[in-house]
Amino acid sequence: MVTMDPSIEDIIVEPPEDGVIVDPIRWFESPGPFEIEIGCGKGGFLLARARANPGICLLGIEWANKYFRYAADRMARWKLTNVRVMRTDAKYFVIHHLPPACVSVLHVYHPDPWPKKRHHKRRLIQPDFVEAALRCLVPGGRWLIQSDHEEYFGAIRGLLDGQAGLSELAWENAAVATGEEWSGTNFEAKYAREGRTIHRVVYAVS
Ligand SMILES: C[S@@+](CC[C@H](N)C(=O)[O-])C[C@H]1O[C@@H](n2cnc3c(N)ncnc32)[C@H](O)[C@@H]1O
Repeated sequence: MVTMDPSIEDIIVEPPEDGVIVDPIRWFESPGPFEIEIGCGKGGFLLARARANPGICLLGIEWANKYFRYAADRMARWKLTNVRVMRTDAKYFVIHHLPPACVSVLHVYHPDPWPKKRHHKRRLIQPDFVEAALRCLVPGGRWLIQSDHEEYFGAIRGLLDGQAGLSELAWENAAVATGEEWSGTNFEAKYAREGRTIHRVVYAVS
């Protein structure tokens, strides 16, 4: 248990072994609504979200070791006790290790678009992941997605719009994405500077 001034080791959660279904709230000092950011990169959004919402339990998942270490170190330096970071393939983790109805908010910002058609199978948001994500979200939960890649964003909407149990909310009406709390992600800032259009959607789970 983390008592004060967490070290990077306190922030990092090891990926579970095969066959294990985790109880994510046990990783945190105090229970609270459990949120996941997939592909948290350097952790810009993770940091802002955790700081603004001390009552939530937030897990950032990042595959790239360099960014994973950077994000975990950043959370420790900010002495955050309500955030954990895991290095793993988030798709595998969600499909194989999460229990049903445990995630209050799923954040997916600028998932790698894998633009070449022959690489589309590497994309995160595909039918098997969608099925697992919907199983893991709680009733009343939220799934927020943001992308700068028009074709991938269209494909995501094609999978999720009209999906039973999901309804779209206006981004500005989603409780997690309003006002000053929305600090954006590192890629969002970079793409905004380049003048790229940012596509966003938020779904509510019934
Ligand atoms: C384009 S970057 C966006 C980073 C961050 N979300 C942002 O908006 O600044 C995508 C990130 O997702 C990570 N990533 C891609 N696929 C992943 C997976 N299956 N599991 C975990 N992380 C993944 C990449 O390593 C990369 O850091």
